[in-house]
Amino acid sequence: MASPHPDIDHILLTADAIAARVAELGAEVGRDLAGADGQLVIVPVMTGGFIIVADLVRHLPQRRVRIEVVTVSSYGGTNMTSRGAQLIGALPPTLEGKHVLVVDDILDTGGTLRLLQAEILRRGAASSRSCVLLRKPTAGAAQTKCDYVGFDIPDEFVVGYGLDFDGLYRNLPYVGTLAMHARTATPPPLTEVRAS
Ligand code: IMP
Ligand code: MG
Repeated sequence: MASPHPDIDHILLTADAIAARVAELGAEVGRDLAGADGQLVIVPVMTGGFIIVADLVRHLPQRRVRIEVVTVSSYGGTNMTSRGAQLIGALPPTLEGKHVLVVDDILDTGGTLRLLQAEILRRGAASSRSCVLLRKPTAGAAQTKCDYVGFDIPDEFVVGYGLDFDGLYRNLPYVGTLAMHARTATPPPLTEVRAS
């Protein structure tokens, strides 16, 4: 494996460990939702859910599924604690008769999943399930229903595989903890590109 990015302290989950676990989650979801074929709506929570959902749905090649992205904001910029979940992107106005699976990167306070579960049931869904790659041992997470959990991790701030700090590090193929020196640094401005 290539050496980790210099801003990463230690790797918590390797790309291989994540791939193996996401394959297991895909098999479980496929079995549980076999009866929902054609009525299955997968809702990735943007932006952090974009990598796990891309991997997960490719373990469901026998199912006819729709993808409806939703954007929820709970952190801003360099904040490392949640300020409460806010729906800032639309869900379909009706989900009548649909079996919905929300997919997110991490379950922390649970605000995101609880908000979405309420919104999904309000739109008439036949069922609402959720899947996260990671879960932290918080009081809020313990009070939040989550049907598929990849890994229970310690209460540490992590990045990679969709998870960010200040919008960065989502592209790391593994999950790791962020080094202290990277927690306050402001990235250099992008060089302006002009069309000639
Ligand atoms: P919750 O609403 O508090 O459960 O938080 C869920 C959201 O907080 C996730 O979708 C992430 O965007 C963000 N989050 C929580 N913990 C971390 C972390 O350790 N690293 C990066 N983002 C996190
Ligand atoms: Mg998120």
